[in-house]
Amino acid sequence: MARVRDRVFVSTELPGDALDRLRAAHEVTVGARIGDAAFDAGASEWRAIVALLTDRIDAALLARAPRLRVVANVAVGVDNVDLDACRARGVVVTNTPGVLTEATADFAFALLLAAARRVAEGDRLVRRGEFHGWSLGMLLGAPVHGTTLGIVGLGRIGQAVARRARGFGMHVLYTQRTRLAESLERALGATFVDVDALFAESDAVTLHCPLTPATRHLVSAERLARMKPTALLVNTARGACVDEAALAAALASDRLGGAALDVFEDEPRIHPALVACERVVLAPHIASADRPTREAMARIAADNVLAILSDQPAITPV
Ligand code: DGY
Repeated sequence: MARVRDRVFVSTELPGDALDRLRAAHEVTVGARIGDAAFDAGASEWRAIVALLTDRIDAALLARAPRLRVVANVAVGVDNVDLDACRARGVVVTNTPGVLTEATADFAFALLLAAARRVAEGDRLVRRGEFHGWSLGMLLGAPVHGTTLGIVGLGRIGQAVARRARGFGMHVLYTQRTRLAESLERALGATFVDVDALFAESDAVTLHCPLTPATRHLVSAERLARMKPTALLVNTARGACVDEAALAAALASDRLGGAALDVFEDEPRIHPALVACERVVLAPHIASADRPTREAMARIAADNVLAILSDQPAITPV
């Protein structure tokens, strides 16, 4: 007997072979985003939706799609999804862990190096035509090798960052709710400290925690005040983990060395004081944006949909 072809809504075009995989088994509608007119037109029929982190999946949206079985988020973070509302309706939520670990760690390190060694400032200076030859005191930055890196969240991505830090001869501190096994700490060369000690002792702090009520504004005015005045903050996690207004104020009053941010509290809006600040490196949420990684993220989302719609367990349930 031929399998039932279910109706699947995909928020946007996907890279790689993800759409082909879905189309081979189901009727796929590609919209411009979840909740748009194309979504509404078939909402009563959607059995699966493939969502982006810019799509808000909440109780109201779920109520519009009563036959929904799975929300496959093309991201590891799921703060755009109301997990309780999904659970209440029996909708499975999946994400894309693992495949973006190394790409994100690469980018966190790129941001750290860029902020410490003033790469973006140098680029701007050259483009303004202000490079008039080598000079002993031009754009003096901070060292990275041999300094102390504080990692908030030593999960997959945090650990990948810690491995890179070892290559740079860095001393690694970490903090998170649950301490890792001693053998893993030893293998990573990472020392567990409480969050306040981490902020006080690090030359650079990098965030690799999910956004939850506990981590919202984890980087607060008080924590920023504990940091060394030369310290750097790197954020590739979620913008709202940082109180952006407090960060802008700390930078404006020279109470912090600099920052490098891939994520923002209210994307795509960026706090104007951060845009104006020379000592901030700004990136448009691209930490996982290398081609194979983005293709793998889309493929996992598609494969999660295929699994659930054929009554198999999700591959990467949240
Ligand atoms: C995620 O996966 O949560 C990132 O922010 C995008 O790769």
